[in-house]
Amino acid sequence: MAQTVAPSPGPAGWKILRFDTIDSTNSELRRRAAAGDAEGVAIIADHQTGGRGRLGRGFLSSAGKGLYLSAALTPDCPREVLPTLTAWAAVAVCDAIESLCGVRPGIKWPNDLVLGDKKLCGILTELVTQPDDTSLVILGIGVNLTQTPSDFGPEVAAIATSLSQALGRAPERDALAEAVLSALNALNRDFPHRPARWLACFRRDCLTLGREVRVLGPDGLREGTAADITADFGLLVRWRDDSESAVSSGEVSVRGLYGYV
Ligand code: BTN
Repeated sequence: MAQTVAPSPGPAGWKILRFDTIDSTNSELRRRAAAGDAEGVAIIADHQTGGRGRLGRGFLSSAGKGLYLSAALTPDCPREVLPTLTAWAAVAVCDAIESLCGVRPGIKWPNDLVLGDKKLCGILTELVTQPDDTSLVILGIGVNLTQTPSDFGPEVAAIATSLSQALGRAPERDALAEAVLSALNALNRDFPHRPARWLACFRRDCLTLGREVRVLGPDGLREGTAADITADFGLLVRWRDDSESAVSSGEVSVRGLYGYV
């Protein structure tokens, strides 16, 4: 079962809990939030037996091969701006990876990090209500560090990469965790009132822009071209009939990424 060692101090303000094995670092942070014990907590695991991804998918979390980290944020802002946090988090993780590896990943809207047209990192953002009725955001970040194609298996290997696979080197997991938590401190200072730099970085890094996209939304499947990022980090799409509208959630496939040709 899960094992934890004593909390260790991290970058300013974070209480870091480390587990050898856990079902999901996001689930553990949810459990702590339900007990009113999650503020300022970051959880790192060597291995997740039930790693969770967006849209109800799983997230493959091989032992010792990735950074599996969840961090609790309590931004002081209206509830309706919270969904944009997920895009800010993508920029923060790009900042962390660039600071250690000297290479900046791209972003597949809304928040996958991509290297060499394959997925390097996924982010799962969950909103929970604490016993005192305040909102807490759980940012779950999974970065592939040293997986080889055989660690992923043939299906995932076709769309996923790791830092060692893409760059020939990967930073120490704990060094990356520290860089990510420092970047989240910068995010915390700016969110949501100082979006300029985050929006500019997101627009520059977003590999979806200018490409053909297939969007699976509530109205079914639609195709078009990604035209811009809106001020609230939505994806503005010019549809085949030349109309334009912004997509704020859902499944977006991008021609040229993850084997969509
Ligand atoms: C996605 O790509 O769909 C999001 C994947 C998020 C994975 C991370 S790993 C740490 C945290 N714990 C989880 O169970 N999921 C997130």
